[in-house]
Amino acid sequence: MVRLEFLKYMLSFASLAKFNPLTFDRMLESGSDFKGSDFGRDFQWGVGTSAFQVEGAWDLDGKGPSIWDTFSGKEGNIKDKTNAKAAIEFYHTYAADLKLLKRLNFENFRFSFSWARILPEGSGKINEKGLDFYDRLIDSCLELGIEPWAVLYHWDLPQALEDRGGWANRDIIGWFSEYADLCTRRFGDRVKHWMVLNEPAGFTTLGYLSGVHAPDRTGIGIFLAAVHHACMCQAEGGRIIRQNVSGSHVGTTFSCSFVEPNKLTHCHRNAADRLDVVLNRLFIEPSLGMGYPIVEVPFLRKINKYIQPGDLERLKFEFDFIGLQNYFRLISKPSMIPFIWANRMKPGDGVEITEMGWEVAPEGIYKILKQFSKYPIKEIIVTENGAAFPDVMTDGRVHDQQRIDFFKGYLEQILRAKREGVNVKGYFAWTLIDNFEWAEGNRPRFGLVYNDFETQQRTVKDSGYWFRDFLKESV
Ligand code: GAL
Repeated sequence: MVRLEFLKYMLSFASLAKFNPLTFDRMLESGSDFKGSDFGRDFQWGVGTSAFQVEGAWDLDGKGPSIWDTFSGKEGNIKDKTNAKAAIEFYHTYAADLKLLKRLNFENFRFSFSWARILPEGSGKINEKGLDFYDRLIDSCLELGIEPWAVLYHWDLPQALEDRGGWANRDIIGWFSEYADLCTRRFGDRVKHWMVLNEPAGFTTLGYLSGVHAPDRTGIGIFLAAVHHACMCQAEGGRIIRQNVSGSHVGTTFSCSFVEPNKLTHCHRNAADRLDVVLNRLFIEPSLGMGYPIVEVPFLRKINKYIQPGDLERLKFEFDFIGLQNYFRLISKPSMIPFIWANRMKPGDGVEITEMGWEVAPEGIYKILKQFSKYPIKEIIVTENGAAFPDVMTDGRVHDQQRIDFFKGYLEQILRAKREGVNVKGYFAWTLIDNFEWAEGNRPRFGLVYNDFETQQRTVKDSGYWFRDFLKESV
């Protein structure tokens, strides 16, 4: 059974980057006590969250239902049978949680707006109380000296819009523009860093192709329509932010995983290339004016059916930054899976994996950064990276050494890429506090802070303290 992995798997390059063992050994020697300040004074350090995973208050103060409220309310959809009606109650606890963030020496906070909290029906009637909540959240960040980084869309489409076809309906370009215009006009005086979409490959493949995420739809046609409309909204959203927000820093995010063929034969390399197209290239290349990468993966040609005159031009937008989100690498092999004809291999025996079953592969982030740095993009920010491990509370402490080692390993590889000239300007750990992990429920814990879901009591994990010390000289 494939779940979130399917996206990560469906999202990702096949050429093996040349690995220089000598350079790497030197890095390891010198890197054992490296610090945040080694990344430079202008490097941005933050943590990421998303509305649905943390806010709770699912029907409070006029909020409308989102596709995730509907999906998580249906029996059998969430692995551990939990739901996000309360999530981590961030709607009520944001002020204290932001103070915690500050205590860990982070200066940037990434959050997303809940579209259905602001426009309960997706378009038309505005919910002032929803806007007020984000005013309070943003003002609290600024009072604490935390820079807010806002994401317009992190997977929680208003149910009312899904009822009208959701991402598969071209009208979404108009609905999304209305919403983006409203948010940027309201918050653009205080929020300067914006991201349009979170991982479009994620919500289109998982939500509209495999159906393991909301809105639980399956079909090649609706998937390709959703892909094209998401790409259109990605560019349109970028233009709206730039137009409405003076001094804006405009980005969007992509889930990326370096793909390696398990054998260096022609056939295996081709399979890895095909996977790379769907996972890593499908959403960025149209924005760069390269069109859709349909040569390697013929079924993608059917996307032409949804492209109207003028669209290819409108797909282009010059982002100030690209948010790269990486958790693992993928090893692929040819397979009988229709359309893509490539398959992800399970991590082998003896390979360290996280609670999500993902391989701990620090060098993968180095390779995918190098791959993306070949595109003509202004700057890259790692907008998500982290790991879930089965944390245990003992005497009020969580000794999550595995997570500390994970962060050290990945950060070391980011520094390696940066020192080799990759223009990576920031890093956002996923995530501040354990939260609702989509179709997995509350079980996988990604936080630097432990959450007791019964009492909503927060406890800083050792990894949180590790970050506090790591960032001490950067603040
Ligand atoms: C990303 C997603 C986040 C979070 C993370 C950990 O794909 O954007 O919301 O769930 O994965 O799995």
